[in-house]
Amino acid sequence: MMNDEILENYKEAGKLASKILHEGAQGVRAGGSYLELVDSVEDRIRSEGADLAFPLNVSLNEDAAHDTASTGDERVFAKGDVVKFDLGVQIEGYVADTATTVDLGNNSLLLDASRAALDAAIACVRPGITTGEIGAAIEHEIVTRGYRPVANLTGHGLDQYVAHMDPTIPNIAISGGTVLEEGMAIAIEPFATTGSGRVGEKTRVEIYSQISDKPVRTPAARGVMEKVRERRGLPFSRRWLNDKKAGLALISLCRSQILYGYPVLSDIPGSLVSQHEHTMIVTEDGCIVTTR
Ligand code: CO
Repeated sequence: MMNDEILENYKEAGKLASKILHEGAQGVRAGGSYLELVDSVEDRIRSEGADLAFPLNVSLNEDAAHDTASTGDERVFAKGDVVKFDLGVQIEGYVADTATTVDLGNNSLLLDASRAALDAAIACVRPGITTGEIGAAIEHEIVTRGYRPVANLTGHGLDQYVAHMDPTIPNIAISGGTVLEEGMAIAIEPFATTGSGRVGEKTRVEIYSQISDKPVRTPAARGVMEKVRERRGLPFSRRWLNDKKAGLALISLCRSQILYGYPVLSDIPGSLVSQHEHTMIVTEDGCIVTTR
């Protein structure tokens, strides 16, 4: 359900997310510290009195999503890198989810493909359209530019304290799909790739979320869960726990299906992936993009 107060929260979160995403993107330089940039963007959100809907995702080159800084992360950005920033801001639980890509090489055409696909998708959004038709518009823009859309990553619905829910919005044409309705909050996020068009899981896991509320036995796991409960189900990063011994507790909490770990998702080695994303509210005759 959508009312004026909820819409105001979505808009406020969107405005802040847009501003800080672009400030952060401008801070990417070859030789710059990955960890310092992630920390500074996340601190900016908190200093504005808002909260993160999920850890800042900064995914490089063939990595499409779900990477973020680890504690003591020593990586630096390099010439040639394609750097995806995916930022989630929440106000009263209402989420703005937005992403952009920074090119430290000569990949402007790849970036244009995901940007044009997002614009084409947004132009389609209104009550009555299906998510399959939106996926077709995305696929068309990317394929005609000589790249592949990532078929197994999708846009998604949003709700209070929920960063991912139905409907899924494919980045390829599918038959049918969900019919959009007025008042829905959705995020559309096309990915364009020079690789296979499918992502797989790497072993690296830095982002987690709580998926059930079962009793926890060990003191270490109890300590982790005390911090995690404040997230109300929204994702968090291992770095935020500020606890060198959290690693084993996280593994056992995932095994007990209390937490879920999000592996870094990557196309084939040596490929490059770009991403652009906006959040929008479906209106009577179109949509309001909250993150522009
Ligand atoms: Co998203």
